[in-house]
Amino acid sequence: MENNIQLKKATLADIPTIISIEQSVSGSKLYSPMLTEGEWLEALKRNTTYLIEKDGEIVGEISYEFKGPSHAYIDGLAMNPKFQGQGIARSAMQLVLEELKDMDRVDLVTHPLNEKAINLYKSFEFVIESQVENYFGDGEPRVVLAKEKNK
Ligand SMILES: CC(C)(COP(=O)(O)OP(=O)(O)OC[C@H]1O[C@@H](n2cnc3c(N)ncnc32)[C@H](O)[C@@H]1OP(=O)(O)O)[C@@H](O)C(=O)NCCC(=O)NCCS
Repeated sequence: MENNIQLKKATLADIPTIISIEQSVSGSKLYSPMLTEGEWLEALKRNTTYLIEKDGEIVGEISYEFKGPSHAYIDGLAMNPKFQGQGIARSAMQLVLEELKDMDRVDLVTHPLNEKAINLYKSFEFVIESQVENYFGDGEPRVVLAKEKNK
């Protein structure tokens, strides 16, 4: 499906909007949302967070940070459930990966049972590298997925 979406760089003023997106996907062990203003104040210092806008409405967010000169880590992707299943996360990933196309390595983590996310990432040629138990300290595992140049 063709999607006309826009990525808008989030500022501190957008923190309540970002938290409401995180709240909309909370309550599942498959995703560890960031729900406090303090966490987002810290996160926005180190990462680039985009609000995903479609038809004038904020429908989700995607974020990444640099871990090295040629290494980016996608640290967040969440779509309001009302807007899931329409190819919007795919379009947002496409735009972010285009922005990161010169990186030697792009990686991220997700829950091993997060089938939707894993399918999405695999379709962009991310491969599962490893599984880490109790990754965020909540007792739940995460898998590391990476997309590397020349691999
Ligand atoms: C994962 C998530 C971001 C996908 O958002 P979305 O906008 O619904 O995804 P899209 O419609 O763009 O679909 C992209 C791909 O995801 C996968 N996918 C989406 N819904 C799926 C489903 N119900 N079952 C299996 N795979 C699914 C597919 O690979 C799909 O590609 P395809 O439609 O070409 O087959 C969304 O489900 C979400 O926000 N989940 C909660 C938060 C989360 O888990 N974030 C990722 C954590 S790292």
